[in-house]
Amino acid sequence: MTIQTVGIIGAGQMGGGIAHVCALAGYKVFLHDISPDRIETGIATINGNMARQVTSGKLGEKERSDAMGRIAGAETLADLATCDLVIEAATEDETVKRKIFAQLCPTLNPEAMLATNTSSISITRLAAQTDRPERFIGIHFMNPVPVMKLVEVVRGIATEDVTFEAAKAFVTRLDKTITVAEDFPAFIVNRILLPMINEAIYTLYEGVGSVEAIDTAMKLGANHPMGPLQLADFIGLDTCLSIMQVLYDGLADSKYRPCPLLVKYVEAGWLGRKAGRGFYDYRGEHPVPTR
Ligand SMILES: NC(=O)c1ccc[n+]([C@@H]2O[C@H](COP(=O)([O-])OP(=O)(O)OC[C@H]3O[C@@H](n4cnc5c(N)ncnc54)[C@H](O)[C@@H]3O)[C@@H](O)[C@H]2O)c1
Repeated sequence: MTIQTVGIIGAGQMGGGIAHVCALAGYKVFLHDISPDRIETGIATINGNMARQVTSGKLGEKERSDAMGRIAGAETLADLATCDLVIEAATEDETVKRKIFAQLCPTLNPEAMLATNTSSISITRLAAQTDRPERFIGIHFMNPVPVMKLVEVVRGIATEDVTFEAAKAFVTRLDKTITVAEDFPAFIVNRILLPMINEAIYTLYEGVGSVEAIDTAMKLGANHPMGPLQLADFIGLDTCLSIMQVLYDGLADSKYRPCPLLVKYVEAGWLGRKAGRGFYDYRGEHPVPTR
């Protein structure tokens, strides 16, 4: 399987980041989202992030402009027909992902490989919704994609060796380090990370500490580079809640019960940095804790 053209569905934090690293690695990229506006915003964000890399000396100006020249918007899923690999990076909601695959598969090249960037949902179950479970795989990038070295590669029950090898070669070309995880809810990183974040939210909910106290405690007391509430805002509280729900449903253990305060923030639309407000309010000059 030779991959030259990569389609990416979802131009948000992750889809944009994946497009960024793919374009820099020389792949032709098509970026799709639900509206032309979102695609445009996604491409503008990638350009801004690459420009920052140029300013800090990590990237040359020619590399930036060449890479940007390799990224094109795709207004419909049918525009991804010629891609060798399509990576789904839309909202962490199984219904949304299923609908995307149902629409995408009939027009996609039958030889093309399909991947999902899901943080938690069963690869086997998503693969079964497609016409090509043997060519389907989990390629789970970390946020922010251009910075984070790790990519989890997750096989579904039907994923063929050739797909697995092609996914590993693709990730290696992006200069990332692979860890292979089995197909269990939330894989490795989020199986460990999200219960810690959820516990930090319970700690806030029960009044054990303020937002600042909890984040400072974990930064200085456990040497974490950022506090768990700041990290939750960075991931997106909707994504955090979805992952906890997948863990809770998939492992049927009450220790994964999503904190009611997390549910409340998501219901309020306080989804973290991407929404301007989460455990911190980002609308001013500096982030201000909301509790
Ligand atoms: N945020 C993280 O830290 C992180 C890390 C690793 C993996 N992920 C996973 O990556 C995926 C995307 O997360 P994100 O943080 O980029 O979310 P996001 O909210 O920033 O972006 C999601 C994008 O998907 C688009 N979308 C929704 N429905 C769509 C549809 N039907 N067709 C096309 N586009 C659609 C939205 O318009 C939005 O632009 C999720 O599966 C998430 O679990 C997230």
